[in-house]
Amino acid sequence: MSVQTLTPASIASEQRSTVRCASCGATLDDRTARATCPNCGGLLAVEHVAPKAKGAALRALFDERLGAASYRGSAADRSGVWRFRELVLPAARPEEIVSHPEGNTPLVAREAVASFAGVSALRLKHEGHNPSASFKDRGMTAALTQATRIGARAVACASTGNTSASLAAYAAQAGIPAFVLVPEGRVSTGKLAQTLAYGAHMIRLRGDFDDCLELAREASEQLGIYLVNSLNPFRVEGQKTIVLELLQQLGWESPDWIALPAGNLGNTAAFGKALREAHALGLIDRVPRLLAVQAAGAAPFAAGFSDDFATRRRVRAETAATAIRIGDPASWDRAVEAIRFTQGHVVAVSDAEIFAAKRVIDACGVGCEPASAASVAGVRTLAERGIIGRDERVVSVLTGHLLKDPDAALAARVAGGLGSEEPLTRDEALGHLGRVLTASSAR
Ligand code: F0G
Repeated sequence: MSVQTLTPASIASEQRSTVRCASCGATLDDRTARATCPNCGGLLAVEHVAPKAKGAALRALFDERLGAASYRGSAADRSGVWRFRELVLPAARPEEIVSHPEGNTPLVAREAVASFAGVSALRLKHEGHNPSASFKDRGMTAALTQATRIGARAVACASTGNTSASLAAYAAQAGIPAFVLVPEGRVSTGKLAQTLAYGAHMIRLRGDFDDCLELAREASEQLGIYLVNSLNPFRVEGQKTIVLELLQQLGWESPDWIALPAGNLGNTAAFGKALREAHALGLIDRVPRLLAVQAAGAAPFAAGFSDDFATRRRVRAETAATAIRIGDPASWDRAVEAIRFTQGHVVAVSDAEIFAAKRVIDACGVGCEPASAASVAGVRTLAERGIIGRDERVVSVLTGHLLKDPDAALAARVAGGLGSEEPLTRDEALGHLGRVLTASSAR
C-alpha cells in the first residue's frame, strides 16, 4: 500500500451508500435528511458498497493509516473513526467531515479489575478518552458530517447527558445551532456543564429520557430539525468503530466476549453491525459474543432476553447510573439482531453491583462514570454463573470518563472511608495524615 492512498483527494469515494428501512424495505439516498423512515417511521440502516480490498488487504490499509504515514496524509487518517471510512461513510468529502479528531482510545489491562471480574484476560476499552469524554463522539462525528452534507439548519437530540455534550461540541465545530432535551434533575453536573459551555440550547423537560426522545422526534418532524439520537443511522456507522478499533488493537484477533452497558441500545446495535461486517469482509475470522449489561431498575432488554425477545418490553426506569436510565429503548429490534447474530447474552446488575465495580475501576487509576462500570459488573455476574469462562478473553467497554459524574465519584469514595469529609485545620490535617499512613502501612 503506498502513501499516496492516504492523500485527502483519495478520501471521498464515488461509491454512494444506500439507506434502507429495516421495517418496510424503502430505500433512500445517502444524502437523506431523514433519521427514520418517511413511509413507516421504522429504523433506517446504512449499507455501503463493499470496499475493493478485503481480508488481509483491508486490514493492511487500516493498519497503514494508523502508522506514521498518516502525518503526511489527511486529518481523517488520524481519527479513530474516519480511519475506517470505507465502513462509515465512504462518500463523505474531506471538507464535509466534522472531526476533532476522535477515537484512538486506549485498551488497558488492570490486574485488580480482572481479578474483581473473575476472568484472567480482561481488557478495558476506555471510550472516556474521546474529546467530549464519552463514546458518543464516534457517532456524533458521523452525524454532524451528515448534517453538513445535507445543509441542516439545526440539529437536536434527547439525552441522558453524554449525547448532549457530544452534540454540543460537534455542532459548535460545524457551526450549526444545537438543541438538546434532557430529563429534569437527572443529568450529572459534568455533562450539563459541557453542554452549556459548548453553546447548545438546553431544554430541561419535566419527564424522563423516554419523554424527551418522544418530544425530540416530534419536534424534528414538525420543525425540520435534523435528529441525531442513536436511532439516526449515521450515528450507528460511527459507533461501529469502537469495535473496529479494539479489534485492530488486538491485532485483528477476536476476543471471546465484548461487554458493554446498554440503555437506548444504539451501541449494542452498532456493535452487532460492526461484527457482522467485519466478519463478512474477512477482517476477523471469528465473531466474539456480545454481552449487553443493563441496570436492574432499567432492564427491559434483559427481561426480553429471558424469553428470547418474544415481546418488546417497556419499564419505568430507575437507577443511579443515570446515563442508562432508559425504559423504552429505541434501537430494540437492531439490538435483538446483534445479540442473536453474536450468540450474545443480556444481563441486569443492581446499582450496588455497578458501584462496587466502579470503586475497583476508579481505585486502579483508570476510573469511569457509573453506567460504564456496568460492563465490568456484568462480566463478574456471568463469570460467577460460569457462562463466561475464567480463561476467556474479554473486553469491557468503559463508555464515559470518571469526571462526567463527579458527585457519584465523590459519594462512592466517601462511603468507602477515604478522605476527610470536613475541612481540617493545619494540626488536624497533620494528625489525620499520620493516622492514615500508619493504618495503610499496617495493611
Ligand atoms: N454508557 C454511557 C456513559 C451512556 O451515556 C450511554 C447512553 C450508554 C452507556 C448506553 O448506550 O444508549 O447506546 O445503549 N447515553 C445516551 C445519552 C442515552 O443520551 O447520552 P446506548
